[in-house]
Amino acid sequence: MRRYINDKFPHFMHGADYNPEQWLHMKEIWDEDMKLMKEANCNEMSVGIFSWATLEPEEGKYDFSFLDEIIDKVYKNGGRVVLATPSGARPRWLAEKYPEVLRVREDGHRKRFGARHNHCYSSPAYREKVRQINTKLAERYGKHPAVVAWHISNEYGGKCYCELCEKEFREFLRKRYDNDIEKLNLAYWSYFWSHKYNSFDEIEFPGEHGENSIHGLNLDFRRFVSYQTKDFMNAEIDAIRAVCPDIPVTTNMMPGYYYLNYYELAEKLDVISWDSYPNWHNGTQLSVASETAFWHDFFRTLKNRPFMLMESAPGLVNWKPYNKLKRPGMDRLASIQAIAHGSDTVQYFQWRKSRGSVEKFHGAVVDHVGTSETRVFKAVQSTGATLKAIDEVCGSMVNARVAIIYDWENRWALDDSQGFARNEKKYSKTCLDYYKALWKRGITVDVINAHGNFEKYDLVIAPMLYMTDHDTIERIETYVGNGGTFYATYMLGMVNETDLCYLGGYPAENLKEVFGIWNEEIDTLYPGEKVEIVSGDKAYEGMDYSELIHAKEARVLAAFNSEFYAGMPAATVNCYGKGKAYYQAFRDTGEFWDDMLDKILVELNIQPTLKSKVPEGVCAHKREADGVEYLFVQNYSDKAVGDIDVGDGYVDMESGEAVSTVSLNTYDVRILKK
Ligand code: GLA
Ligand code: ZN
Repeated sequence: MRRYINDKFPHFMHGADYNPEQWLHMKEIWDEDMKLMKEANCNEMSVGIFSWATLEPEEGKYDFSFLDEIIDKVYKNGGRVVLATPSGARPRWLAEKYPEVLRVREDGHRKRFGARHNHCYSSPAYREKVRQINTKLAERYGKHPAVVAWHISNEYGGKCYCELCEKEFREFLRKRYDNDIEKLNLAYWSYFWSHKYNSFDEIEFPGEHGENSIHGLNLDFRRFVSYQTKDFMNAEIDAIRAVCPDIPVTTNMMPGYYYLNYYELAEKLDVISWDSYPNWHNGTQLSVASETAFWHDFFRTLKNRPFMLMESAPGLVNWKPYNKLKRPGMDRLASIQAIAHGSDTVQYFQWRKSRGSVEKFHGAVVDHVGTSETRVFKAVQSTGATLKAIDEVCGSMVNARVAIIYDWENRWALDDSQGFARNEKKYSKTCLDYYKALWKRGITVDVINAHGNFEKYDLVIAPMLYMTDHDTIERIETYVGNGGTFYATYMLGMVNETDLCYLGGYPAENLKEVFGIWNEEIDTLYPGEKVEIVSGDKAYEGMDYSELIHAKEARVLAAFNSEFYAGMPAATVNCYGKGKAYYQAFRDTGEFWDDMLDKILVELNIQPTLKSKVPEGVCAHKREADGVEYLFVQNYSDKAVGDIDVGDGYVDMESGEAVSTVSLNTYDVRILKK
């Protein structure tokens, strides 16, 4: 099976954010851009992202002439357009006439006009103005053959503390707690410190200068911010779909962005897209590569279909503390990494460097020099040539037998909890560590939330799943009972969905039977402290957390060998129904997990992508469709590597040669087909 971003354009897209309205006074550049677009092997431009002031210079007076001209030009030159709604930044008249659109800070001050991504998502005025311009855009361009996707707004984010938002928050809670304030009080444990509410109208946003001790409220506030943003985005999508139901919609997401639960934001989107700016070349290349891969997998899993790499930096960015150039080869390697994990586009921010304002030194395909004679332009051109050569990969799928749970609400709840290592629980890092061991073996991983579907996987890994609601508990039980393998760690099943601790022993409810253990206490170690763990005749190091668990039905796989808990179980496995439930009661350096994984993979007959041993820094990932397999062998190390055995039957998609071994220069990538 193949799935395309848009069936009318079943090809890879290679392009960039393009802001021709910045060059209206130098329009000759537009034709130059078209010439360069073809020369760069590009076929896509994302337009209109921040164009509102040009499109609607005065309220209700629209001027689409620049977009008309640009969209036609791109199309005539063989390109396609990803067309944005302009709500990511508003024109000055809108803020002046309707001050409610301006966001209010936590301290109660309303912001002035300026910057971007700073509007109140509750404001009826903002919603209405956005609806109007989105409708106009859909009416005007919804049938244009150039337009392949809608780019809804830009990087939604942030929160607003205005009165309109606070009112919406109360309504949100009223619904959530069935308009029953006592239900909320119990869910929030608000008799604590006499913080009980008498009515929903008493509820204020949590914050520094007010209520900040009720974890349930903090959690619901995070849920609300995410919900309200989604609601705003959905209204934008509705306006577009009412006129133009056929063109897919996407919005560009940011890796790990804290305040939006992307699992929920994804619901109404047709296609997922994201903006990737890794810290390459900072001495931790493999961690950066695996972390980037994790986000590719996360965004792919949101819709379980090919996604879009909406932004990446040609050359460098300008907003990091240190803005290092991408080394030769890295543009192509990073771009093809996205493809290997399921992207069907390689897009950049930005096409042409602006002359002024804050992004004038941000990398672009076309630099201030204005020619194709730059290193970066040539790198983009070379990536484009590769994409053309492997175009048939487009639409193919990535199939995973393993999933990692990375849950947004768990992340919020865990970070907010007081206890453990109070300010650095390292939830995300821990998930990444578990992921990395799979990544380096080339094993395809889906990243799911705790409410995801477990049944389709052979192995589900749940690091630090502290917040585990009743529904999730039941689904874990069913999954293992039916034959699944579930690998959980310390902190499993401690609180419910309103952040109340479970009574009756951890892990909560039936998890004690599923895992065959009881977790009595958790020891948080000081940074740098280590404990010894022994399994058979091998010793491992533990750090940060040791849980004092008791094995009931479970078999002990490893035991602590230090501290007053020496001899207590450190890792267990329990056969439950037809499946197995593993529990790791400590944080390891990665070595223990690596050894466990080797055994579990053999047991489940999950093979690494390459059967032969590969040098450090080399990995391989697969896409598949219609019985054809596409193999991406990547080298992230600073050394050239030779003679990697890939097995028989492969053809190099760029050279057309049959290969059974490949050699790769630093940052090289080879795409093979079988
Ligand atoms: C974000 C934005 C872009 C641009 C880039 C710069 O991803 O969406 O408009 O500012 O950052 O890296
Ligand atoms: Zn607001």
